[in-house]
Amino acid sequence: MTPPADSVLILDFGSQVTQLIARRVREAGVYSEIVPFAKGAEAFARLAPRAVILSGSPASVTDVDAPRIPDEVLAAGVPLLGICYGEQALCHQTGGNVGPSGHREFGRAFIDIVDDCALFDGVWARGERHQVWMSHGDRIDAIPPGFRAVAVSEGAPFAAIADDAARRYGVQFHPEVVHTPDGARLLANFVLRVAGIAPTWSMAGFRAAKIAEIRAQVGDGKVICGLSGGVDSAVAAVLIHEAIGDQLTCVFVDHGLLRAGEAEQVVGLFREHYRIPLVHVDASETFLAGLAGVTDPEKKRKFIGGAFIDVFEAEAKKIGGAAFLAQGTLYPDVIESVSFTGGPSVTIKSHHNVGGLPARMNMALVEPLRELFKDEVRRLGVELGLPPAFVGRHPSPGPGLALRIPGEVTREACDTLRRADSIYLEEIRAAGLYDAIWQAFAVLLPVRTVGVMGDGRTYDKVCALRAVTSVDGMTADIYPFDAAFLSRCATRIVNEVPGINRVVYDYTSKPPGTIEWE
Ligand code: XMP
Repeated sequence: MTPPADSVLILDFGSQVTQLIARRVREAGVYSEIVPFAKGAEAFARLAPRAVILSGSPASVTDVDAPRIPDEVLAAGVPLLGICYGEQALCHQTGGNVGPSGHREFGRAFIDIVDDCALFDGVWARGERHQVWMSHGDRIDAIPPGFRAVAVSEGAPFAAIADDAARRYGVQFHPEVVHTPDGARLLANFVLRVAGIAPTWSMAGFRAAKIAEIRAQVGDGKVICGLSGGVDSAVAAVLIHEAIGDQLTCVFVDHGLLRAGEAEQVVGLFREHYRIPLVHVDASETFLAGLAGVTDPEKKRKFIGGAFIDVFEAEAKKIGGAAFLAQGTLYPDVIESVSFTGGPSVTIKSHHNVGGLPARMNMALVEPLRELFKDEVRRLGVELGLPPAFVGRHPSPGPGLALRIPGEVTREACDTLRRADSIYLEEIRAAGLYDAIWQAFAVLLPVRTVGVMGDGRTYDKVCALRAVTSVDGMTADIYPFDAAFLSRCATRIVNEVPGINRVVYDYTSKPPGTIEWE
């Protein structure tokens, strides 16, 4: 893809939240690219960026093999913003000093603004105190010549430093995360005011650039797109269809793990609304047979990933071979499934459309949404003309109900869960709460408890209800239903769903929980 003339280069030193920097820069209306630090010099020459942002890192600048800012970047004189490790690397490499700190800061912290600077213009002023999000062990002991301290915290005498003349800044905190409430405005200040870039990036521009990129990648090859029933794969399919038309065939796999009504909605939308060729495969026998006896969550995910590929490959053969498999993979799936270029971020779960794919697959991947977060995909969906009600649907994971039935997944358990889940969602819709919630679903536990119904004893399963709010799926809070609502759901589920005699509400945020139970 040809980068726009006014771009920002983000050098990635391996932080879990580097993509959030790109996202904030996009929100400010500016194009950016994230590049691993080791390829920084090459990317700097290719992009000729108007500014460079240096990310955080789990590394320490005092390590022998510590990641370094390329000399070419330091020599060029472009505006620089170092975040956390990025600030420390900037100090370490330009005449300051960094050492281990006796006072580690993780999570919410407060900083005092001790001087004004261009980075803070119109956002923070001298004498104010502001909340930020910190995550560092080392600290800067001496700053390079030309810099001055503009903010301090208890654990960091150089919580923010500035050299307005050289247009170089460093912040020990993370402005890219939502827990630094003014962080997005600081990043916007850096790219718009300090670097003087005009805010011309838009979702329409992203759409056009991705279409060009897809065409270049695919050529005249055929693409199979796996539709999962969710928003992401649908948006990916519509975008790819716009790029390559009938070279695209969509495959909707009914793995027997779908929620009530899911298949009908997707098939209807694609066949009737878009007239995009769609193959509907009922593979529930195969998936459920393969899941028999499997209780380990990672084994379930790997099996499902593999079984999907078998279906896609079989369908590819039927259309005379497809060289590409398209998926609606989003950024949170990528960051939680793989580590940064073999680096230090840990695998939380193998999301089926990323880490769950078998190595034997012989199709190349087309993943146009890989840099985006959920709400951005929704905006792209609207840009592409998808119906707002469809775009606003809660996320739906590819492995479906398998993640919501801890222990063995059986057809009977899926049927029971589907019934409880649709009652729960019906109540949420009736209460007008659907759009206020990021994701809500029922989970069927393998635990049986004793109950009493009528005059009889019951000994049935427990259903857990989950509802969370979130901005991007990376962190989440529980939705605070009132007791009457939960009690109504519990009563209906126990009365109307045979096999369930108890309902509980999951009160765990992410972290430390994840949104799905597996
Ligand atoms: P977790 O459970 O990791 O979920 O907090 C974050 C978001 O990702 C969805 N999710 C998946 N989506 N394939 C998907 O397409 C998967 O394997 C998968 N696992 C989790 C989850 O529903 C939530 O929205």
